[in-house]
Amino acid sequence: MGQAILIATTNAGKLREIRAVMGGLPFDWSSLADMPEIAAPIEDKETFAENALLKARYYASQTRMWVLADDSGLEVDALDGKPGVHSARFSDEGTDAGNNRKLVTELKAVPQEKRTARFVCSLVLVRGDDVLLTARGTIEGVIIDEPRGSNGFGYDPHFLVPTLGMTTAEMQPEQKNALSHRGRALATIREDLIAMHTSQT
Ligand code: IMP
Repeated sequence: MGQAILIATTNAGKLREIRAVMGGLPFDWSSLADMPEIAAPIEDKETFAENALLKARYYASQTRMWVLADDSGLEVDALDGKPGVHSARFSDEGTDAGNNRKLVTELKAVPQEKRTARFVCSLVLVRGDDVLLTARGTIEGVIIDEPRGSNGFGYDPHFLVPTLGMTTAEMQPEQKNALSHRGRALATIREDLIAMHTSQT
């Protein structure tokens, strides 16, 4: 069995994507879904990278494991980068449906050509307080009013990638993983993990 790594998320959508990309590597993956007794930390930082590091170090201190943490979200230019690090709790309800409703409402008066946005993902792997690896990925798109597609999660049905004419919710999981913010950041971490493993064996 390989080195154990805890994936610090309870988000089923993220977990699915992370497991899909990391499949086949010689590491023993688990997630917070296996550890419901650990309370979540307060993510109160201003950037995705800082929040990812906060989460990773917190769960490392709780479990003594190597921890891979992701912090991600949506930046909309016409909303000055909102919802940004507050993407998961943009609406009072904090549900995907509530967040999407608020997004569409706030963009009501904004014409389509000014609805540019991006998903951002910061990943960090820690051992205790030590940062072993970091990566960041982005994907550019525009926000549409009517939801399209039923794959993915979160803001995916409203995030159109103009070069493909598809929302990220209309993409098959493999296609989203090949292009997305998380997929790109994970690909970097995957390569670095392979290099780290090779240099240690
Ligand atoms: P976090 O768990 O604090 O990183 O919150 C991330 C939030 O950003 C999620 O709850 C989603 O609302 C949004 N988000 C992040 N990645 C994606 C994605 O790939 N598709 C759609 N929404 C995403």
